[in-house]
Order: sequence, then C-alpha cells, then structure tokens
Amino acid sequence: MRKWNAATVRAAKGVEKLGCCTAYDACFARLADEAGVPIVLVGDSMGMNTLGYGTTLPVEMSDTLAAVAAVSRAVKNAMVVGDMPFGSYQCGDDEAMRSAVAIVKAGADAVKLEGGASVCGLIRRFTAAGVPVLAHIGMTPQSVNEYGGFKKQGKTREAAERMLADAKAVEEAGAFAVTLECIPSELAAEITASLKIVTVGIGAGPVCDAQWLVMHDLLGLNEQVPSFVRKYAELAGVVRGAFAAYVREVREGAFPVK
Ligand code: KIV
Repeated sequence: MRKWNAATVRAAKGVEKLGCCTAYDACFARLADEAGVPIVLVGDSMGMNTLGYGTTLPVEMSDTLAAVAAVSRAVKNAMVVGDMPFGSYQCGDDEAMRSAVAIVKAGADAVKLEGGASVCGLIRRFTAAGVPVLAHIGMTPQSVNEYGGFKKQGKTREAAERMLADAKAVEEAGAFAVTLECIPSELAAEITASLKIVTVGIGAGPVCDAQWLVMHDLLGLNEQVPSFVRKYAELAGVVRGAFAAYVREVREGAFPVK
C-alpha cells in the first residue's frame, strides 16, 4: 500500500478522491490504516468524541500530543495530521511555531489550523520550517462562540467571495490541502475548481477532492449525527449489546466457564 504524505496527497488532485477520517487512539487508527484511509486526522473533535466536552475549545496541547503519539505509533501508510488546539496558535507566532513543532515531534506528518488570510503568516512560517499545513476554512468550530452555534457558512455572495479569497490565500501561503467545512456545495465546487491544492470537504458536497468524516459518526458510535453524515456501521448498538451480554452472563454464571 502507498505511503501517504503531503506530496502524494497533492498528486491525488484530479486523479483520485480520498476518503479521510479522524482517529484519536491507536486501536482505531490501526484499523483505519489497515483499511486504506489515506489521511488520519487527530482532530480537536476529540473534545466532543473522546473527552466529553460540548465543543473543541477546551482541548489542550497535552490532549493533542498524547493522541497524536498514539495514532502515529499505530499507522503504517496513512498520513497523520495533528489538529492545532484552540489557544495553541492564537497567542503569538513563536508559541504557534513551538506548538506545531511539538505536534510533529509527537509523530504527526503535518498540522491543521483554522483560518484563512488571518493565518497565512503562520502557514508560511510552518512550511518554511518543513511542517506541512492542512488549512481549514468555512465553518471553523473554534469560532463557535462567534457564530452562535455550529452553523453553515458562506451563504451570502459576499461571504462566499471572502471564502474563495481565503482559499486562494492559504494555497498561496503554502498549504498542501484545505478543509472546507459546512459550506454550500456550489461554493465548495467553485473553490475546488479554483485551487491546485486538494480540498477536503465535510458537509460541503460531493465535488471536493477528498472528504472527512468524524470516525465516531462514520462508524455509528455517535447515534445523533449531522445530516450530511453517512454511517457505514451502527456500532453503538453493537457495543451496547456486547456490554449488556457480558454483564448478564457474569450475573448468570455463564461466563467464565472454568
Ligand atoms: O477536528 C475535526 O474533526 C475536524 C474535521 C474537519 C474533520 O477538524
């Protein structure tokens, strides 16, 4: 199987579409890797999916570093992208650089950070230091308090034009790919056609070069999922059933047998 990195992801544009997902631990990262997932994102969505928070905002660098280390120990061929948590790149460029370096030292092949033109200085600095960057525009969950909820973005022509400009800016700054989250599919199509770099959509329609799904959504571990999600398994019921059967068999003396 091919080893994925910034160069092979770039080369996939217009050649093959990439189904990518998050993972936050070694077990699921190994399974995703064995299944051929090209990019495993250690997303700050771990805040909701593994840490029990309501948003991504409380995730700390220590959470990210532990998860990136676990995931990168488990994968062989997937590219591991470490999501920069809220607060790790907003408080000054030197601290941002230190955060990106720490994520790479923990095992990531690249970092992801949210923002368009406003983070292009960081994208230039990271890429100049050899850290590939996957940008993230559209609905950027670290700005949830500004939006007043997780709401689709880019719905007016002015907002769409700003987003197209942001997409071109992050490409020009050196990002190897850009996440387009929760934007109209026509806008995602326009951005995808305007860029030479890979667009990775989530809730952004079918025309993007690649897609993200949050692992807990795609596996059906989360029972409530956004409307754009397709569940490829219904694991919540399977897992709950297995726990219940175990508890019952221990209670009834059916396990262990010797
Ligand atoms: O943290 C996350 O899950 C993300 C998504 C865009 C995949 O950033």
